[in-house]
Amino acid sequence: MNRIRILDESVSNAIAAGEVVENPTSMIKELIENSLDAGSKEIKLEVWNGGLDISISDSGCGMSKEDLLLSIERHATSKILTKEDLFNIRTYGFRGEALSSIASVSKMILSSRTEDMQNGTQMNVLGGKVTNLKDTQRNVGTQIEIKDLFYNTPARKKFLRKENTEYLNIKDVFLREALANPNVKFILNIEGKESIKTSGNGIENAILEIFG
Ligand SMILES: Nc1ncnc2c1ncn2[C@@H]1O[C@H](COP(=O)(O)OP(=O)(O)O)[C@@H](O)[C@H]1O
Ligand SMILES: [Mg+2]
Repeated sequence: MNRIRILDESVSNAIAAGEVVENPTSMIKELIENSLDAGSKEIKLEVWNGGLDISISDSGCGMSKEDLLLSIERHATSKILTKEDLFNIRTYGFRGEALSSIASVSKMILSSRTEDMQNGTQMNVLGGKVTNLKDTQRNVGTQIEIKDLFYNTPARKKFLRKENTEYLNIKDVFLREALANPNVKFILNIEGKESIKTSGNGIENAILEIFG
């Protein structure tokens, strides 16, 4: 009697998700770095419910409809192509695992538009499966809304940190990204209140804006 089976993709995605997105803070770090890789000059993050609900919008290059559909597939990346590229990485990401992982453990709405598109595209995803795709009017760039992170992985949800601890961690990651990228405008709102804001006018301003 054989007992070994290849796991169904939705199961293997959920397992992989546990490694890439351990908690709201690690998810947010991946999303900010995607926005930076897209060349954004402005990144706005809003968080609620200890980071289980978030929205991140950027002014980056955006994605075409086809790219948007591919972006939530596993091992889908625009950042490398060959093994050789692994020795010359100039982006934060390259594994193509973050969006697929996050998508598989949340309810997601992605909307995006590139410079050469007249309309943007909006895509709804539930537990990794696309449930709706339509045209939408929006600026060039990308917005990703995530609701109910870990809604389908109750074990993971049980071991989350307290909301306030998570907010401290989110602020810490956000502040590091803002300081490391002082020419990008960063805005963080927590439960509707402005928490961190930089103008994207260089490191001296960023330090002043963050630490006063
Ligand atoms: N904010 C964004 N703006 C433009 N493209 C994005 C954005 N986020 C993700 N993408 C696209 O989706 C792909 C998959 O993202 P991700 O799963 O994080 O993998 P990786 O960053 O390792 O390539 C990226 O390679 C990129 O092409
Ligand atoms: Mg990435």
